[in-house]
Amino acid sequence: MSPERVGVIGGGLMGSGIAEVFARAGSEVVVHEIDAGAAEAAQARIESSLAKAVERGKLEAPARDQALAKIAVSTDLSNQADRELVIEAATEKETLKLQIFADLDGIVTNPDAILASNTSSIPITRLASVTRRPDHVVGLHFFNPVPVMTLVELVTTVKTAPEVSARARTYAEGVGKTVIESRDRAGFIVNMLLVPYLLGAIKMLEAGFATREDIDAGMRLGLNHPMGPLELSDFVGLDTMKQIADVLFDEFKDPMYASPPLLTRLVEAGLLGRKTGRGFYEYG
Ligand code: 3HC
Repeated sequence: MSPERVGVIGGGLMGSGIAEVFARAGSEVVVHEIDAGAAEAAQARIESSLAKAVERGKLEAPARDQALAKIAVSTDLSNQADRELVIEAATEKETLKLQIFADLDGIVTNPDAILASNTSSIPITRLASVTRRPDHVVGLHFFNPVPVMTLVELVTTVKTAPEVSARARTYAEGVGKTVIESRDRAGFIVNMLLVPYLLGAIKMLEAGFATREDIDAGMRLGLNHPMGPLELSDFVGLDTMKQIADVLFDEFKDPMYASPPLLTRLVEAGLLGRKTGRGFYEYG
């Protein structure tokens, strides 16, 4: 079962993918973006991903057109008022997400609406605490690329109503995802395991222990991972990686989660991986 009306806050890599999968499942989706330029980029991202799905034989052209017709990109947050499910997929910055949740709480009029965050690491209780409906707040953590990856982490807090958790699960399963459930602590299940691994690869490169190519080939060929850890870090985005590492470090105070200087320097230099054309690798 998919909700009829879905809102997605942020049309970046994750938000555009989330909008696409709900539209493909039949929901009418309003994507919120901050300005006209960002809205245009979000629309282009969705169109390009749907075109790729058609190209790869995963979607028929009429189904692509139907999905596109179901997605509107808006810069007016009040267009989220009547949504049954709103998924926040903004940049991984806590202050920004807190503001969005406070704003949504004032705007979304449907008392049954679920407010969800696609945060990679920030505890959901913190986001729920700025709303007057913490029982209706959950984490729905999708994976990149959203149309391809079949997992969603459902994160519930001590205050999440059981009916809300069950409905959020049904919504995610309705778009073809397998749901795993995590209690609310930074990193949930997947990033708690993934991030120390990725940071370990960065530390190995930083120490001059092996080349980037050999580190990646080691994990690709030795463990059949689709991408090596440095390629995957570039794919996730080095700014996002650092933000997740910082949240994990703040939560557990374990040096295992501390951002290595190399990661911090690349972020400071604006070399954020694939999205900026350079990170650990260069992209044409
Ligand atoms: N819709 C539907 N299917 C699509 C599609 C779309 N828009 N785009 C591509 N596909 C399909 C393709 O048809 C293909 O399917 P097939 O295997 O049945 O032929 C499959 O997806 C792979 O696509 P491509 O051939 O274009 O690309 P690759 O084979 O090079 O794989 C990749 C690309 C899927 C990204 C692969 O490299 C991969 O799995 N990488 C790891 C991704 C990963 O680990 N993601 C998680 C990141 S962590 C995260 O997101 C959490 C965050 O909090 C940090």
